[in-house]
Amino acid sequence: MRYFHIAAIPGDGIGQEVLPEGIRVLDAAGEITGSFRLRYDYFPWGCEFYLRHGTMMEAGALDILRRYDAIYFGAVGFPSVPDHVSLRGLRLPICQGFEQYVCYRPSLLLPGIPCPLAGKQPGDIDFVVIRENTEGEYAGAGGRAHRHLPLEVAVETTVMTRAGVERILRYAFKLAMQRRRLLVNATKSNAQQHVMTFWDEICNEVSRDFPEVRVERVLIDALAARFVLRPESLDVVVGSNLFGDILTDLGAAIVGSMGLAPSGNINPEREYPSMFEPVHGSAPDIFGKGTANPIAMIWCGALMLDHLGEAPAAEMILRAIRAVTGCAEARTPDLGGTSTTAEVTGAILAAMRAQAK
Ligand code: IPM
Ligand code: MG
Repeated sequence: MRYFHIAAIPGDGIGQEVLPEGIRVLDAAGEITGSFRLRYDYFPWGCEFYLRHGTMMEAGALDILRRYDAIYFGAVGFPSVPDHVSLRGLRLPICQGFEQYVCYRPSLLLPGIPCPLAGKQPGDIDFVVIRENTEGEYAGAGGRAHRHLPLEVAVETTVMTRAGVERILRYAFKLAMQRRRLLVNATKSNAQQHVMTFWDEICNEVSRDFPEVRVERVLIDALAARFVLRPESLDVVVGSNLFGDILTDLGAAIVGSMGLAPSGNINPEREYPSMFEPVHGSAPDIFGKGTANPIAMIWCGALMLDHLGEAPAAEMILRAIRAVTGCAEARTPDLGGTSTTAEVTGAILAAMRAQAK
């Protein structure tokens, strides 16, 4: 029996509703496989915490989190706090401070899910976006001067380091080797003549170590169109922080719902804990109704188990998700159904138990 210590951060909005559902599934996976047990500590960080204490998380938060095997994270952001404050106070310091430089975001068309693109079958869409997660457009380099004067100016500079670009590209190439050996490099080196040409050059250098991987350099605007027109041509897509951010909302939309898109913020060297969070945000518009789709959060749990070396449990959860989407009995409103969050989780738990029999 293996034991893992998990830091649970529900955060804001529907993060508070879906995280407990994910934990029900994680615990059941541990029971059914008999291979591991999870222990959780909860941290009430987020916008409510900010309104009371003036910071998104407590002092020394990273020192506390560092002791855990992984972080299970709901969502951050609420209308009561400016978005740039909530982001820069919680998710970003964790991703950057813990060198979670890989943001791993699969897009998979599940059985039974109506695809907004015409004529696509399950299996037609199956790719992973690897988003650089610690620098680039999110580096925070810049400032404002001449505040409130006619001369006012704002500057925000993309920062790309050779080490930072190389490590994310290497990870993407390695992943492509385990998949269909197709790598799309999302770039914009025609317009961004400094940072993106640098990125492309490093991509060329790294590609020499992976001669079996076919690399395509695709400009980000054309790539956005290709996500819609020919998603079946994609396997691994690697992009900068902002490009990856935009592409992964698109990736979630084409597989049917933001509520189906999981994400892992990963430190591949395992020097620090990795953090697993759905791509969707806190969704204040549906918060409190009990109808948020828990599947993205549950799938994040599977990614977390996989990262912790519990692949059979992760696969069991994914099979149960497929079984539930495939039979269309339990569906939340984002998928056109009327089920509650807890009912969908219940169906997934039942599908896991049925597999175990
Ligand atoms: C995401 C989100 C965040 C991001 C927001 C909440 C700032 O959109 O995880 O994709 O841009 O990174
Ligand atoms: Mg995003």
